[in-house]
Amino acid sequence: MIEMKKIKIQLDENDLPKKWYNIQADLKTPLDPPLNSQTKQPIGPDELKAIFPMELIKQEVSSERYISIPEKVREIYRIWRPTPLYRARNLEKALNTPAKIYFKWEGVSPPGSHKPNSSVAQAYFNMKEGVERIVTETGAGQWGSALAFACHLFKINCRIYMVKCSYEQKPYRRVLMENWGAEVFSSPTNLTNSGKSLLKKDPNTSGSLGIAISEAVEDAATHENTNYALGSVLNHVVLHQTIIGLELKKQFQILDEYPDIICGCVGGGSNFAGASFPFVRDKILGKRKDLMVFSVEPLACPTLTKGEYRYDFGDSVGLTPLLKMYTLGHRFVPPAIHAGGLRYHGDAPLLCKLTKEGYMQALAYYQKEVFEAAILFAKTEGFVVAPESAHAVKAAIDFARIAKKRNEKKIIFFANSGHGHFDLSAYDAYHNNVMQDYAYPKTFIKNNLKEIPIIVKKRRI
Ligand SMILES: Cc1ncc(COP(=O)(O)O)c(C=O)c1O
Repeated sequence: MIEMKKIKIQLDENDLPKKWYNIQADLKTPLDPPLNSQTKQPIGPDELKAIFPMELIKQEVSSERYISIPEKVREIYRIWRPTPLYRARNLEKALNTPAKIYFKWEGVSPPGSHKPNSSVAQAYFNMKEGVERIVTETGAGQWGSALAFACHLFKINCRIYMVKCSYEQKPYRRVLMENWGAEVFSSPTNLTNSGKSLLKKDPNTSGSLGIAISEAVEDAATHENTNYALGSVLNHVVLHQTIIGLELKKQFQILDEYPDIICGCVGGGSNFAGASFPFVRDKILGKRKDLMVFSVEPLACPTLTKGEYRYDFGDSVGLTPLLKMYTLGHRFVPPAIHAGGLRYHGDAPLLCKLTKEGYMQALAYYQKEVFEAAILFAKTEGFVVAPESAHAVKAAIDFARIAKKRNEKKIIFFANSGHGHFDLSAYDAYHNNVMQDYAYPKTFIKNNLKEIPIIVKKRRI
């Protein structure tokens, strides 16, 4: 009998994890806490209560290793989860590499990305606490559509501030959000003081995630029974996304393999942290010292590769607490590259700490080489990926080429965070050769960083 070459490893619905994994339990030293921007003291749960439900606040600061996923959330996850793990055999063949390339495909969710792994959980916990309205921002539109989808399931009203350049580049993402009943505005707007002040300074701004966050936080803080939801960065969002990595571990166990290299794109860090943290745990515990873990970002928004590790605001105006993270400065307005979801000035504090401590590393690419990789992937594996996810594809291809040069049978995994069906104008720009490459200069970053509050750690005497 001829042995069938497996293309994908699919888990049964019954294999869906019952708990999320919280890496805070395994850190060698605790995460630096978020600080109140006025007092510069750690913020307590009471300060967050104005915009988040208590259960998410508890998850944010929890040091429990595993946190139960409510049955209702698991039931909704089962619409698209467990997601398949693919072996990219045709891509391997095209590259003529001895490496094996695997990817886990989050593009099968209803909105088309990993984002509903957190939006469903967030909407659920808000619903449990009687919240009637949720406000958020969205860059590429993936998070906005995931939250619109989740709010609809739990009968919660949803408002979305969508970064202006994505609003213009991706009109069909807006329509998708409206299909699920959300209202969507191009940010900055005249609906908030933050938006008005930024429009005054620069009426032609292309917007940024930092600006849209300021608008959403202000809206939530000034409206009755309204909460704010963030699609990345925060510990509870990363926690929800570990469903990816926990499934992935089971899939590699079925294969009786373990990856040598793990890579994924990083905007705020949620999909990649979620996919990689159950493996990074093995590295922290000293069980897999050789595992290499790479975040991939655009050279136009090089947070991890060129930013500084320090406290900064999560938004542009300075309404949020200060978070310890790699940052390009909260006033950073990124160039209008096509990977709208990778244009954030900071990154998840958990991912930043693990990068600072050497458990993870970072790479950055120009957008044209990223699209070139995405086209090769579409031609070999069929899937047209989001411009964000294409950064991970590019890194996986580069690692496979290195493996070829060295004749090494490496096992390469990349997190494939979403489809690009609403990003075809970006592919069109690539095909028509009108796409521009841009690397954000270090001198600009130095200038942005001048506006960040300086936190001096008190020394123990
Ligand atoms: C498909 C896709 N992948 C990745 C990201 C980046 O976000 P994160 O780093 O939180 O996963 C986004 C953000 O919008 C996205 O839409």
